[in-house]
Amino acid sequence: AAPVITIDGPSGTGKGTIASQVALALGWHLLDSGALYRGLAVAALEAGVALDDGAALAALAGRCQLHFVSGQLHLNGRELGDQIRTEQVGLAASQLAQQPQVRAALLDWQRAAAQPPGLVADGRDMGSTVFPTALVKLYLDASAEERAQRRYKQLRDKGLDANLANLVEALRVRDAHDRERLHSPLTIPADAVVFDTTTASIAEVFAQVMVVIRR
Ligand code: CDP
Repeated sequence: AAPVITIDGPSGTGKGTIASQVALALGWHLLDSGALYRGLAVAALEAGVALDDGAALAALAGRCQLHFVSGQLHLNGRELGDQIRTEQVGLAASQLAQQPQVRAALLDWQRAAAQPPGLVADGRDMGSTVFPTALVKLYLDASAEERAQRRYKQLRDKGLDANLANLVEALRVRDAHDRERLHSPLTIPADAVVFDTTTASIAEVFAQVMVVIRR
């Protein structure tokens, strides 16, 4: 099987940026598992499927086509673009992600991304559940205030609506969803290397992460 590096952690820790930089540096594939949950959330919202109906959501996952074309997520052949990046879709994604049937339905799809020469997998449960035998496991964290600030700046830079107070609240709710999930909790794998990125720049985190990967 192809080697896998997992990068987990809550929203706004920079893990998405770090994961794509690591994938680029190594020439490996990238799995943005959060985009998958976000894409399914868009599909569910459009189809009017309730975000707490595990069976209906799993059936929906089985019949919709989600795939990446040069880094962009496509749903049934249609490019979703920045529509999946809104906090509204993030909240919907964290809601449906609580359903064990949904997580099970996405498992094979995610594992199939581990192709040669290797995979960098970004998410919440990459090291704990999806790729438990990964070569290197990283876990990025940061204070809640700093994570909300980063998410605010990121949304503004994309030209999307953003309100800091609402974001702080939305992140709090999403963190709670991720923590309270019974079947696949946001756990730090015992063999993960943990980075606190609260006061570190992306360049600093990237450099530290590459040291761990290369050793
Ligand atoms: O970028 P950000 O961390 O804000 O969100 P994301 O990685 O795009 O994930 C959106 C939501 O999907 C998260 O709040 C999680 O609840 C869920 N998710 C998950 O349950 N498992 C994953 N492997 C990835 C995302």
